[in-house]
Amino acid sequence: MENNLLVSRLQQLGRHFPAVPKNLEQPAVRVAVTGAAGQIGSFLCNFIAQGRMFGPYQKVILQLIELPAAEKVLKGLVMELKDGAYTCVADIIPTTDPMVGFKDADVAVLVGARPRGPGMERSDLLQANAKIFQAQGAAIDQVAKKTVKVCVVGNPANTNALICSQYAPSIPKQNFTALTRLDQSRAISQIADRTGAQVEDVNNIIIWGNHSATQYPDTFNATVRGQPARQVVNDDKWLDGPFLSKVQKRGAEIISVMGKSSAASAAAAACDHVHDLWFGTVPGKYASMAVISDGNTYGIPEGIMYSFPCEILPGGAWSIVQNVPINEFSRAKMDKTAKELLDERKMALGI
Ligand code: NAD
Ligand code: LMR
Repeated sequence: MENNLLVSRLQQLGRHFPAVPKNLEQPAVRVAVTGAAGQIGSFLCNFIAQGRMFGPYQKVILQLIELPAAEKVLKGLVMELKDGAYTCVADIIPTTDPMVGFKDADVAVLVGARPRGPGMERSDLLQANAKIFQAQGAAIDQVAKKTVKVCVVGNPANTNALICSQYAPSIPKQNFTALTRLDQSRAISQIADRTGAQVEDVNNIIIWGNHSATQYPDTFNATVRGQPARQVVNDDKWLDGPFLSKVQKRGAEIISVMGKSSAASAAAAACDHVHDLWFGTVPGKYASMAVISDGNTYGIPEGIMYSFPCEILPGGAWSIVQNVPINEFSRAKMDKTAKELLDERKMALGI
């Protein structure tokens, strides 16, 4: 394929990898992954090694952090990563010491946490997982690069990201984000199935708020093949009812079907999230991610990690897309999920 055709196809797909590398000698990116030996972690490490996060030309150093109890499984994962002979991998550092694992990290994907089991609510995880994110924030503060980009996956992801940032005061709060990209991907896939479109033809669905059942997948600004999505779907009742609850409860649906929580799709979404932080978003395409709220945007209270539509410059400077029209229906749903995040913050940090 001609180079310019390839670039435009990659952009249509929302991919910003340079079609031709500018410089093959770029230093390797240091990526710390916690919970590397777990379900998501194993997929994630393999996806990164295959180039899904930083493209096929970028070398990475995988810094894999696990609990001592999972050391043996981690050893097995490293054996497999080596056996894959992945050309993107410059080195692998497996460790049970966060001070080693986060050392000089450019990117940290925090997956390690207890997952929700059948019948559990996400709030049950808050107590269990808060301590992990305090300790990891403190370690990141001490040894990671000050420019480190942190993506929190472990649940409750938004509030864990907030806790982590509180314990890493030397790193800008803007460098901490939480994953709602999986929700965005789920919503895109539902709309694509419903309309017969390809997933890359569905754009700018927004996930507002918490990565939980209160999240609000907003279709009012979305497009399908460039046309307003709601016109193409032509079924407001479905969009405002079954579609919303399908996306909101998809995590629980996967758990009830598989007996364990989503893994490959979560790892893929984490790759896409970090990809966009690294390379920037394609102009005109929003990426939903949970970022710190400044209190002046869309009426969302200050100091919670709330998922907004973001545009990102290469290198990770993000801004929230402004002037998205918000109707009464959306307003109520955006406030409800903000309220849940305020409650979680109160439980976790007492503020
Ligand atoms: P898992 O139990 O398979 O793996 C978790 C791994 O983390 C285990 O290997 C465990 O040893 C490790 N771990 C626990 N505490 C650690 C610590 N302090 N330091 C380093 N490693 C630690 O779980 P999983 O299915 O991979 O899920 C991981 C987390 O991701 C869960 O909290 C889950 O709810 C969450 N999740 C989030 C999303 C999202 O979209 N945000 C999607 C799916 C799952
Ligand atoms: C998901 O969305 O699949 C995860 O957050 C798992 C869960 O507990 O819902």
